[in-house]
Amino acid sequence: MATLELRSVVKSYGATHVVRGISMSVASGEFISFLGPSGCGKTTTLRMIAGLETLDAGTIAIGGDEVDGPGGHVPPERRQLGMVFQSYAVWPHKSVAENVAYPLLLKKVPRADVAGRVRTALDLVRLGALGDRMPSQLSGGQLQRVAIARALVADPRILLLDEPLSNLDAALREEMRGEIATLRARLGTTMIFVTHDQHEALALADRVAVMNGGVVEQIGSPEGIYGAPATAFVAGFVGGANRLTGTVVGREFHVGDLRFPLPEGLPATDGPAVLAVRPESIRLGGSGPALPLLARLYLGSTTEYRLQLGTEVLRAVGPAREVTVGEVVPVAFEAAFLFDSKAP
Ligand SMILES: Nc1ncnc2c1ncn2[C@@H]1O[C@H](COP(=O)(O)OP(=O)(O)OP(=O)(O)O)[C@@H](O)[C@H]1O
Ligand SMILES: [Mg+2]
Repeated sequence: MATLELRSVVKSYGATHVVRGISMSVASGEFISFLGPSGCGKTTTLRMIAGLETLDAGTIAIGGDEVDGPGGHVPPERRQLGMVFQSYAVWPHKSVAENVAYPLLLKKVPRADVAGRVRTALDLVRLGALGDRMPSQLSGGQLQRVAIARALVADPRILLLDEPLSNLDAALREEMRGEIATLRARLGTTMIFVTHDQHEALALADRVAVMNGGVVEQIGSPEGIYGAPATAFVAGFVGGANRLTGTVVGREFHVGDLRFPLPEGLPATDGPAVLAVRPESIRLGGSGPALPLLARLYLGSTTEYRLQLGTEVLRAVGPAREVTVGEVVPVAFEAAFLFDSKAP
């Protein structure tokens, strides 16, 4: 395992600025998740760490040694990293064991050692009995595990995983999420896990780097990111907060003609602002502004309500209530975050 350091890393494709100055220090053995929407630069950043893309500016160091920067570019095969691609990239005409053995053969590991190391890697992902199978005889979750075993077999200093679970169905994804947590605990390898699923990031990572438009908007512990989002974007992306643009006037938040009392204890100064309110922090009832109900979605453990707020749709979740679509329902904000409306 090794440390990883990114300093002011920049990458453009033509006129498209994909990564716009990313810096971070990852400790040895740390599990970091890159979380962000499609196109925010997650894969590009991961590929630069792997050495599969060159940087326009900045430096990358692994284990304290610069691998990209003024000193030049160390090619991927000399970085000693393991990578799992979103598409698995398992070779269909090689058996499971041959797939996993491939990185060892590339590294010219003595033949006598290969079988044992392949077996160890397959055992780690609970595929020990399936080494002779062909990929076409495996399920999606098993294929993904072959890709992980192949990335691990050569003892990488850092394991890079690009949306490894996104091709799996919901149930399998949850199961594999647990397996990745177990694997992580056994390996102790430095890991970078790319995802656009907030639950995966929060559940697995020591720290989450929330990316948007080629920058890291916030990096911190899952509790820190969820409990104290640094920007309105982070509040929206992690925790699904509604983002309302309006004006703080005294202890009220004005959106058009509607005047919402601010939650008690929320520090506020008068002026334009963005109020971020999580669906579970919205209470239906009380004496606040009343909004037309657009939809009521019964979800079992909770019910989701969609309400018309000016031109926006406000999402609330809570206990099932007897309200009908079209009815006007009073809403109150029990907790919220306030952000400067001029911030990015
Ligand atoms: N080789 C390339 N040439 C031109 N543009 C590219 C290239 N690779 C990526 N891009 C663009 O760079 C941006 C970031 O892409 P990237 O693959 O890093 O995003 P991502 O965060 O991984 O998104 P996703 O969640 O969809 O995988 C996108 O707008 C993409 O179209
Ligand atoms: Mg990607």
